[in-house]
Amino acid sequence: MKLTIENISKQYKDKIAVKGFSAELTEGVYALLGPNGAGKTTLMRMVADILKPTAGRILFNDKDISVMGDQYRDVLGYLPQEFGLYKSFTATRFLMYFASLKGLDKKEAKIRVQEVLQLVNLQGEEKRKLSTFSGGMKRRIGIAQALLNDPKVLIVDEPTAGLDPKERVRFRNLLSEIAADRIVVLSTHIVSDIEYIAKEVLLMKEGELIQHNTLESLLERINGRVWNVVVTKEELPTIQREYKIGNIQRNEKGIEIRIIHDTKPFPNALQVPASLEDVYLYFFHEEVRDNV
Ligand SMILES: Nc1ncnc2c1ncn2[C@@H]1O[C@H](COP(=O)(O)OP(=O)(O)OP(=O)(O)O)[C@@H](O)[C@H]1O
Ligand SMILES: [Mg+2]
Repeated sequence: MKLTIENISKQYKDKIAVKGFSAELTEGVYALLGPNGAGKTTLMRMVADILKPTAGRILFNDKDISVMGDQYRDVLGYLPQEFGLYKSFTATRFLMYFASLKGLDKKEAKIRVQEVLQLVNLQGEEKRKLSTFSGGMKRRIGIAQALLNDPKVLIVDEPTAGLDPKERVRFRNLLSEIAADRIVVLSTHIVSDIEYIAKEVLLMKEGELIQHNTLESLLERINGRVWNVVVTKEELPTIQREYKIGNIQRNEKGIEIRIIHDTKPFPNALQVPASLEDVYLYFFHEEVRDNV
């Protein structure tokens, strides 16, 4: 199974939201990572075939998704970033409604609705109205909706926004399990969400794919460039201007900061192992600094 994204672009009136994006995806979790406005949602909407690209094409098993129509929708699950809920519906009614839109017959739908409720840990809540759901529960029912047709291609746009840490771990495990025989594309700002499960990471900046690599090789690229150093209050502002800074921690030693730099920045700096958060800072720090 494969999904081929071939030189996709999306141009709005005066804005190119996605620029010449290409990637070939097979079974496993792909993490789409990038700052606000990078083009993640625009790309995902094109992959979900609800937004037409201005250029390029997307193929599922070598067939153009724009001509596959319902055949593609049968294998697709999509959780949009902004997901409107029918607030007066109960959880069951909501899922039964979406199941019918996806073409499941009633008997089949009843069974599947119970299964997905269980998958997202909402069993027992099915008779409640969605208007009484917490933010995290709403997110979970959205995920349940995306899983109804047992999709081969699952696209989830910031699925963990609003989930508490326990649910986040559950969700991570769920994705990891279901990705064994599916293509899963997930966007998030929370790097720990993908640290354990992403097969490959796609870094997006200003509409372009700037890195497509395994987690290991991304970490490998910046290993040896992450440093811990203790500084004084007086030194901090200059260092913040001149270096890529990660965490700043005040403790009994003074102010301990994490610096990402190609060479040892200070004689007392200690090299520490790189994390995905460092990778993110390494690639996106310039953009943040230039925008200030
Ligand atoms: N309908 C539209 N018309 C014009 N510009 C748009 C439209 N939709 C998105 N954009 C622009 O395209 C760019 C990419 O937006 P997009 O929503 O894809 O980013 P994102 O990476 O999903 O951001 P976030 O992390 O905030 O969700 C942004 O500059 C945005 O303002
Ligand atoms: Mg978005």
